[in-house]
Amino acid sequence: MSGKLTETHLHAVVVPFPAQGHVNPLMNFAELLAMRGFFITFVPTEWIDQRLVKAASTDLVARDNQAKERVSKFRFLSIPDGLPPDHGRTAQLGDLFLSTKCLGPALESLLTAPDTSVPPITCIVSDSFLSCTAEVAKNLGVPRVVFWTSCTTLAIMQANAHSLLSEGHIPVKEEDLKSNEKLITCLPRKIPPIRPTDIVSFYREKHVSESIYSCFLYESRIHNIADYVLVNTFEELEGGKEAQMGLSVNGCPALAIGPLSLPNFLEGRNSMYSMWEEDKTCLQWLDAQPQGSVLYVSFGSIAVKSEIQLHELALGLEACGYPFLWVLRSDIAEGKPMELPEGFKDRTKDRALIVSWTEQLKVLSHPSLGGFLTHNGWNSTLEAISMGVPMIGWPYFHDQFLDCRFAKDI
Ligand code: UDX
Repeated sequence: MSGKLTETHLHAVVVPFPAQGHVNPLMNFAELLAMRGFFITFVPTEWIDQRLVKAASTDLVARDNQAKERVSKFRFLSIPDGLPPDHGRTAQLGDLFLSTKCLGPALESLLTAPDTSVPPITCIVSDSFLSCTAEVAKNLGVPRVVFWTSCTTLAIMQANAHSLLSEGHIPVKEEDLKSNEKLITCLPRKIPPIRPTDIVSFYREKHVSESIYSCFLYESRIHNIADYVLVNTFEELEGGKEAQMGLSVNGCPALAIGPLSLPNFLEGRNSMYSMWEEDKTCLQWLDAQPQGSVLYVSFGSIAVKSEIQLHELALGLEACGYPFLWVLRSDIAEGKPMELPEGFKDRTKDRALIVSWTEQLKVLSHPSLGGFLTHNGWNSTLEAISMGVPMIGWPYFHDQFLDCRFAKDI
């Protein structure tokens, strides 16, 4: 990098939580910052980095061409997460959260290692679920930009988890989940009243003794240590400017800047980095289907299904009579070998395609698509809204119950 570039460039260090649904929006944001002249240091964990590299191996030429354009704008570094190589990571979220609490020292020593080829650091853009970056930003003397990969309502709820705890809404009681009549109105600003089932599922009574429950409460204390707050949503979707300001506890700017995947997608930049190898036959298969006819079935990167659920779903897809494109990740069956009903693949082969991962934005924007059976992860929900695809929700955990209800009611 030339000396001139080093002096004049702003430099954002972008640190995603180590999961697919966090890497995608932060990478999209990094791309957009780079387009506006920022130099970017992108720092996932080593495990994420290895998965991304492995999954992209069949597409190296395309990636490489884009990489050449990027070379003066991006630096990719990674930090160890301290977990054993064979650990399930997102399949054991409590452990993963505990491990991320300790990433600070490795991140700091990486960022303070002398490197005259990059501009001085301007800010750290931190995933909201990475409390460790608060200390690093403080020690480096740079602003901490807290980035939420969820919707605003979830972010406000999570940032105020201790109020919900003191008001008795957390832990969420079993009976409140069943009746669901209670409306919770104590949260700040213009977000709609929420229900017990909307609260982050890790706060349910059954999780109280698990590390994920205490990790979420711990993280909620640190979210508010922010100089800027950014949310991957858009104002018109959730209560206008006023709603985002509910995230500005200390008066710092809080902005909705989504949907982040859309500008990159529309301008042809590939900023979705997959942890699974993308199946390239999907688009050709979709080309051969009637317009608006295909049901796309995908549950994101973490949700799992029991054997019974997979059977029932397969039989439902068979009975519906429509063409369907079904993403069956290799780890979807709760870590067990996946078994579909006998003869199912044969009986549906003329109108079905089963793959282990897709280029989801391309699939959702395809004219053959008619609907999306989704777990309502926030990225998938926002991507479906961006592409105008109707959704059928089957939430699994975390924020997905809230996203699903909002998609239906609001
Ligand atoms: C997780 C949480 O579950 C989610 O609720 C939270 O808001 C973010 O973190 P995940 O479960 O993976 O994310 O779901 P989602 O938010 O939908 O993110 C999945 C991403 O993977 C999307 O960007 C989607 O486009 C992409 N994807 C999914 C693919 O590229 N191909 C696929 O086959 C499936």
